Amino acid sequence: MSASLLTEDSAGLDGLSVWPGSTTRLPHGHLSVGGVSLAEVADRFDTPAYVLDEDEIRARCRMYRAAFPQADVVYAAKAFLSRAMVRWIHEEGLGLDVCSAGELELAVTAGFPPERVVLHGNAKTPRDIELGLRLGVGRIVVDSPSEVARIAALTGLPGRQKVMVRVVPGVAAGGHEKIRTGTDGQKFGLSLTDGSAQHAIARVLGQPQLELTGLHCHIGSQITEVKPYLVAVRRMVGLMARVRESHGVTFPELDLGGGHGVAYRPGEPALDVTALARRLNAELATSCAAAGLPVPRLAVEPGRAIAAPAGVALYRVLAVKHTGGKVFVAVDGGMSDNPRPALYGARYAPRLIGRATGAEPVTATVVGRHCEAGDVLADDVPLPGDVRPGDLIAVPVAGAYQVSMASAYNLVGRPPVVAVHGGAARLLVRRETQEDFRRRDVGV
Ligand code: LLP
Repeated sequence: MSASLLTEDSAGLDGLSVWPGSTTRLPHGHLSVGGVSLAEVADRFDTPAYVLDEDEIRARCRMYRAAFPQADVVYAAKAFLSRAMVRWIHEEGLGLDVCSAGELELAVTAGFPPERVVLHGNAKTPRDIELGLRLGVGRIVVDSPSEVARIAALTGLPGRQKVMVRVVPGVAAGGHEKIRTGTDGQKFGLSLTDGSAQHAIARVLGQPQLELTGLHCHIGSQITEVKPYLVAVRRMVGLMARVRESHGVTFPELDLGGGHGVAYRPGEPALDVTALARRLNAELATSCAAAGLPVPRLAVEPGRAIAAPAGVALYRVLAVKHTGGKVFVAVDGGMSDNPRPALYGARYAPRLIGRATGAEPVTATVVGRHCEAGDVLADDVPLPGDVRPGDLIAVPVAGAYQVSMASAYNLVGRPPVVAVHGGAARLLVRRETQEDFRRRDVGV
């Protein structure tokens, strides 16, 4: 198990517990990840840059497969996707959750078997559905009543498409209001409480082109407790029992989505995946036995917990400003490569790397270079008091929902993604350039 899966104290890592397991201290304040000095990565690929530790991704996939030997582990591509990532996920035996024709096409052209793909989306475009059907995705997750007939019509006979119905089980969980999806009153899924889920299930069962393999729910993201998942299982099994009563159908599958939380800063809690697996299986067995139902095959869809801890963002300090009693450390990236602090108030633990310093720490605010006062990467964090332009700042736990949510704001250009493995660094995704912007801008 990698060091980042251990607690700070047990690993004795002095602030490195949330870093990839391969992280090593080098002389003069340098750090290496995957056997590669981060300062060398910064020199070679320039900054800002995102570093992904391939072994950490693979170790996390293996940890999931070991924890869930009987279940399907389906990686949520929205956390981070590239062709290399597709290959790693495939080689480690995981499935893939995609939510657009774009993600789907990237995955399949990179060699991912379509039958191991789950297609999501609260508002699937005709192209999403058509491509899903044409490529032969394993499951399409129905998220609204109107798409049942659309998927069925496009499937046509004699083809049969496997689908699931996304249910809102009425469980409140998740690290921020914007990423809670388990209760009514948000856009995803079909409500258990108002009968929309039952209604959609009946509709799907009425379509001969569709094969309903089971129910799906995704209650939220950055969840660090097991309990909400157990409540969700009880409610989902309750619904499965009602479906059997009213339609005489038992489902062979149950997909519980993702949402597994990670520690972004030393000492923060993370979801215990092994405990989750053990308690989910126990709850499922008990609930199904009580309802007289066969135990369905489980699926889980982790995104963040696979990708986030494997990533490190590297920035160069451009300016240091003392104003209003605060110390602002401005770097060459910001909200265009990491919108999470601005969107969810996410907190990170940045670190000065690449030189030794004995300077007393000051409380600093790391900000980006964008024309917006809310472009803050990390508020109130300790940094050495002599932090200055030219310094390198590294931010761990940067592998999920940063590059994948990056924007073209201020035409700064999205950063490159560099994989490190066995002492070598290689470019996975190149930096977005002025030339890329020029090419898209076709009018006058
Ligand atoms: N399955 C479904 C249907 C989902 O919608 C999601 C995430 C996942 C699985 C994976 O969830 P995870 O294991 O990564 O928590 N941008 C936000 C997170 C949004 C999550 C969206 N759905 C953030 O940066 O915190």
